[in-house]
Amino acid sequence: MNVRVQLSLEHHVGAIDRRIFSGFLEHLGRAVYEGVYDPGNPLSDEQGLRRDVMDALRPMDMPLVRYPGGNFVSCYDWQDGVGPRDKRPRRPDFAWKSTESNTFGTHEFMDFCAKLGTAPMMAVNLGTAGAREAAALLEYCNLPRGTSFADRRAANGRAEPWRVKVWCLGNEMDGPWQAGHVPAQVYAQRADQAGKMMKGLDSSIELVACGSSGRGMATYMEWDRQVLEYCWDGVDYISAHRYSNNSGGDSAWYLAEGVEIDRVIEDYAALLGYVRALKKSDKRVYLSFDEWNVWYRATNMDGAWKDAPPLLEEVYNLEDALVCAQYLNSFIRHADTVKMACLAQIVNVIAPILTRKEGLLIQSIYYPFVAFAKHARGNSLRPAVDGPCVKAGGRGEVPAVDVSAVHDAEGKSVCVFLINRSLKEAADVVVRVAESRLSGVTFAEQTTGASPGLANTWENPRAIVPTPCIARIGESGELHVSLSPLSFACVRGAMAQTK
Ligand code: AHR
Repeated sequence: MNVRVQLSLEHHVGAIDRRIFSGFLEHLGRAVYEGVYDPGNPLSDEQGLRRDVMDALRPMDMPLVRYPGGNFVSCYDWQDGVGPRDKRPRRPDFAWKSTESNTFGTHEFMDFCAKLGTAPMMAVNLGTAGAREAAALLEYCNLPRGTSFADRRAANGRAEPWRVKVWCLGNEMDGPWQAGHVPAQVYAQRADQAGKMMKGLDSSIELVACGSSGRGMATYMEWDRQVLEYCWDGVDYISAHRYSNNSGGDSAWYLAEGVEIDRVIEDYAALLGYVRALKKSDKRVYLSFDEWNVWYRATNMDGAWKDAPPLLEEVYNLEDALVCAQYLNSFIRHADTVKMACLAQIVNVIAPILTRKEGLLIQSIYYPFVAFAKHARGNSLRPAVDGPCVKAGGRGEVPAVDVSAVHDAEGKSVCVFLINRSLKEAADVVVRVAESRLSGVTFAEQTTGASPGLANTWENPRAIVPTPCIARIGESGELHVSLSPLSFACVRGAMAQTK
């Protein structure tokens, strides 16, 4: 099949906020313990952080990592996780029916962030705690010495504040499964009060209010409307969460997932515009898509009260990687709405990296993320795509090739991210940039394989790895890309010098 993509450097959605390539680490299963933190393991450093895991996380180049949950946060008392380790309490964790040793807490997480070269995105407990506890944590993290909690931080070994910039006001408070779940109006009041106290202590912070946990929620958009109307002036973002699934085993349907991701973001764009209009406000509130991934196979949430039980250890295949790439394409296409997004999660729990005591396994979904994080810089262009559709079961017909494109003015390059949804057909894609000729292909890589179910395993860890993609520049300076069926490609072209 043939696909034509027309780009113009003038037709852009705005600058891509690199925070859309963020991650999420929760006290859940083996994400923290045995995942990033494994003291005593020969693979760990002097702080107990797994060196091999840190090395594998580095190319993901995540600007933020959200922590400590997730559902976990709604029963978490952050004070359990600071101070001398041997004095920290062991607690039952309501969310995942596990035992929390608290040997990894705020200081350990901040050390992890510093070592990885990322920044913390902290969530406060607004389920079973409230404004007071949230403000105390803010004081602990962000205020200079001289008050009780800030002094306690210093006494625990950290004199300088960490100055955490981004804070989530609770987690999935619309969900009946959430400890402390309440109706939208009650949550909105809690969030508003906590936010006011937090911003009152540090006006430089940014706040994320809980939006809907998913499009399937009965209160989808209505919850968000009520929260936004109440909290508009105090918050900077509303969150969206989504987990994709192919429970029906219909790959053609599943591979059209991007269409629905677009819809969710457009629902939020419309709602944000509506509330802004109601308020006659000059202010903008943006979307923080702070949990997204594929998750449907490993659904046991009962840790039998063990320490770090293996929970949610999803094994990812090729079609999952292509769906993850569609999330990122959609975030780029909606760069004017989505300012932050977190892959949920980063290690062991619904994650691109799985660990064992003696090593790690990179999963399929890792590779598109790394390609985006490295190459999606600059302005998001509006691609005009002319090409055939594929049948997507109950989702009707959708474009066979999903496209996003970026222009990096500084790097003088244009980069396209292409997903071929077709299970059988290859695609010849031609990309033209209206004002410019491309002079050369500077990067061309694809993630593909023979079948949608192909996955990396401990026995065959390289079943899915990026391979070179065939790409060339034509006589008029246009880019030609040969896309295999079932593939994701990232292709960057250098722009010719103009006189
Ligand atoms: O990421 C796993 C869980 O999914 C999180 O704890 C929760 O926020 C969501 O339901």
